Amino acid sequence: MTTDLDQLRAELLASIDASSGVDALDAVRVHALGKQGAVTGLLKTLGGMSPEERQETGPRIHALREAVTDAIAARKAALEGAALEAKLAAETLDMTLPADSVPAGSVHPVSQVMDELAEIFADLGFAVATGPEIEDDWHNFTALNIPETHPARAMHDTFYLAGDHASPMVLRTHTSPVQIRAMKAAGGHKPVRIIAPGRTYRSDSDATHTPMFHQVEGLVIDKGITLGHLKWTLETFLKAFFERDDIVLRLRPSYFPFTEPSAEVDVGYTLINGKRVIGGDPSKGDGGWMEVLGSGMVHRKVIAAGGYDPDEWQGFAFGCGIDRLAMLKYGMDDLRAFFDGDLRWLKHYGFSALDVPTLSGGVGA
Ligand code: PHE
Repeated sequence: MTTDLDQLRAELLASIDASSGVDALDAVRVHALGKQGAVTGLLKTLGGMSPEERQETGPRIHALREAVTDAIAARKAALEGAALEAKLAAETLDMTLPADSVPAGSVHPVSQVMDELAEIFADLGFAVATGPEIEDDWHNFTALNIPETHPARAMHDTFYLAGDHASPMVLRTHTSPVQIRAMKAAGGHKPVRIIAPGRTYRSDSDATHTPMFHQVEGLVIDKGITLGHLKWTLETFLKAFFERDDIVLRLRPSYFPFTEPSAEVDVGYTLINGKRVIGGDPSKGDGGWMEVLGSGMVHRKVIAAGGYDPDEWQGFAFGCGIDRLAMLKYGMDDLRAFFDGDLRWLKHYGFSALDVPTLSGGVGA
């Protein structure tokens, strides 16, 4: 028995060592440890042994099984490591070689719209501001007058990051935390005029919602700012964006914790060949209203959280889904396709890298 076991061990270890690939190794594994395997067969003989015999032979068979199992695991790791090395070596790209075809990509509609927004608002004196996508709870909620127990927190379907922070970290649920960052950066004593385009995240997914989406925030802080400034700014922006003078706005009373008063803004559309087209008289034919953004006068508490004295400074803010703007302007109807990375879609809806939006040349396509 002893020599049998030693011989079997030597044979098995040799064939494990000799396996040149994962498949060959697996065949050895089945031969040794499978249902009909040699080692499995030995284990089965334990039942028929006398207690003395079992005490003597049992540990040896178990040791054999362990040695074979370990050797297979080690060989598998080595083979996989070698395969990865070979793959990495084979897939090396020489980035200095000249391209053998023109690049197939194009500018994504979301990028195009962001460039259009920057261009339109630059003309109105707005700078572009940014903030982190991994945001702390204070900037995303508390400073925006959304205290811990506020139901708006639940409405946002927030992705929380694991970890033990004094202020929990979240994937920002909107671009509004950039309001606070922009005010803080301006230091509490000079006007602020910014837009903040970027990625935002909510745990939500269907034809019109994706867990990652894009928003643009607008913020003006100055002295003597009124709702009239807000309405004029939005009207000027939407006319420039949709490249039509006959854009009609409707401000509907609404609620956001960080603005008071708050208004949701609808734009009028008309129906042309069954398609909703922004602009024209919404009361005619099958026209109607479409909600495009949220807005309002910045809440006193938010102005204070940004380091400004709310008795002296006022402001307005708005927030708008960029993906939705792109869909309305360029006629896509499924949001999910935006993030599929399908070159055929991009070929159809994408823009030339040379097609930079300018106010003089038109911010359209
Ligand atoms: N942050 C709000 C949202 O994501 C939009 C908004 C921004 C509303 C600024 C008012 C002012 O729904």
